[in-house]
Amino acid sequence: MSTFFNCSSLGDAANDPTDVAGGGIIPHTIIRRSGDMGYEAINFGKKFGLFDEQWQPKVIAEMNDYQFKVVKLQGDFIWHHHKDTDETFLVMDGVLRIDFCDGAVHVSAGEMFVVPKGVEHKPFAEHEVKLLLIEPRGVLNTGHEGGDQTAQNDVWI
Ligand code: NI
Repeated sequence: MSTFFNCSSLGDAANDPTDVAGGGIIPHTIIRRSGDMGYEAINFGKKFGLFDEQWQPKVIAEMNDYQFKVVKLQGDFIWHHHKDTDETFLVMDGVLRIDFCDGAVHVSAGEMFVVPKGVEHKPFAEHEVKLLLIEPRGVLNTGHEGGDQTAQNDVWI
C-alpha cells in the first residue's frame, strides 16, 4: 500500500480479490482502473488545440455510458432530434444559438443548456464556438437525419 495516500476505505484487503470480507468484491474495478488511469487532468485548451475541423465531435472522456466530446461549430447545422436521449451543450468559447420550432436559446461561454429528448433543434453559430457535448455513447450528431454533416462516432483525442 502506498504510504503517501491513505485509501482507508479500501485498505490492504482491497488489493486481495479473494478477501471478500475485506472488500474484495468491490475493488476489482478500482484496481484495474487505477492501473490504467494517469493522474493527469484533462485540459480543454490542449484538447481544442489538437484539431481545427468543425462539426466533428471528439471524445475526451467517458463516465459510465456517457461521453464528453469537444467540438468546434460555426454556421448552420441541420434540424434533428435525438429520440432516446437528452443532449447537453456546455459552451466554452463563443456564443451558440440553438433554434427550436417555437423559439431559440443563446448559450454563451460559461453556460450550458440541456436539449430534451425528442425535441427538434438546430445549432447555429455566427462565429466559431467551442463547446463540450455530454451525451450517451453512440449518439449521432445528426440524430436520425443522416446527411453530409453526420460525424463519425467514438473519435478520441
Ligand atoms: Ni443534437
